[in-house]
Amino acid sequence: MNPNKRFSRFAALLVCSAFIGAAQAEDVSAPAKLPNVVILATGGTIAGTGASTTTTIGYTAAKLGVDKMIEGVPELKKAANVRGEQVAQIASESMTNEVWLKLAKRVNELLAQKDVDGVVITHGTDTIEETAYFLDLTVKSKKPVVIVGSMRPSTAISADGPINLYNAVLLAGSKDAAGKGVLVALNDQINAGRDVSKVNTSTSDTFKTPDLGFLGYMQDNKPHFYRLPVRKHTADTEFDVSKLDKLPQVDIVYGYANMNRVALDAQIAAGAQGVVQAGVGDGSMAAQMLPAFREARQKGVVVVRSSRVGSGIVARNGEVNDDKEDFVVSDTLNAQRARILLMLALTKTNDSKKIQQMFYTY
Ligand code: SIN
Repeated sequence: MNPNKRFSRFAALLVCSAFIGAAQAEDVSAPAKLPNVVILATGGTIAGTGASTTTTIGYTAAKLGVDKMIEGVPELKKAANVRGEQVAQIASESMTNEVWLKLAKRVNELLAQKDVDGVVITHGTDTIEETAYFLDLTVKSKKPVVIVGSMRPSTAISADGPINLYNAVLLAGSKDAAGKGVLVALNDQINAGRDVSKVNTSTSDTFKTPDLGFLGYMQDNKPHFYRLPVRKHTADTEFDVSKLDKLPQVDIVYGYANMNRVALDAQIAAGAQGVVQAGVGDGSMAAQMLPAFREARQKGVVVVRSSRVGSGIVARNGEVNDDKEDFVVSDTLNAQRARILLMLALTKTNDSKKIQQMFYTY
């Protein structure tokens, strides 16, 4: 080829590639860098398998490992750079304080790393609300933490795990989810970890935040937020579990007609440092129970009055003279959440007035 021709072709190529480069630099629609999201798996139905595609009852929870769960949703690769760790492999009715401590410590380690933008925790639905509240009080970061589960096992027709996991990863990778506390996302809805509850034994729309409402939707591959939790959480709490390997013993006494003190007395004899009453109505105490709780308090046990009703504030000095009895009220926390806050409170103090203040803060 004539050397002049070769030069002019080379020059044309240079001009052309410079033009393409400039065009790319200006292309605002170029895909943004994917966030880095770590999935911590703990088991549950989302990792469950059944005998057939129609087995939605009587399946086995906590069978699939985290890598298989990630492999099962190839779309995750478009949502984030995802990697998984298996923290536990249990049905969530077997969740323990020890697993919570391990989980909180791992979440804190991961979120302290610059190359981690958010964490997703896969979990059985039965105690999601407890783990969510525990982490809401103990995670020391504003980065997104999203807890997800499913109501149908991975082998079922229309399993809800894959879409729930995909949405959870999108949410954990979204800057919009930062600073909103630990979030629970299933069934296209985003709920605050402090307030959400499982309200139906089997349907996939089981997660509700009674009265207060959920925070937003997952739709069209992104979160849409409409409300914010206002109670202190995550990086703004006073609780530090980094050096703890166990939590104080706190138990729940369920209220019912014709109740007796057998359970409460057994809990105190077994060394409970705190007890939560899931009382009827506004945390009311049966006449035969008041002396039993009073005795517990006199032995130094912190008594919290909560309610089995499922929504509403338990009023201080309403059904019981809490000032006189030196009891604490749970505000809007149900008994299972009040137990968590009381355990953490007891790692700081056993002054009932300070503990009452914590129930009005978190
Ligand atoms: C569990 O909580 O581990 C079993 C039930 C579920 O995940 O839906």
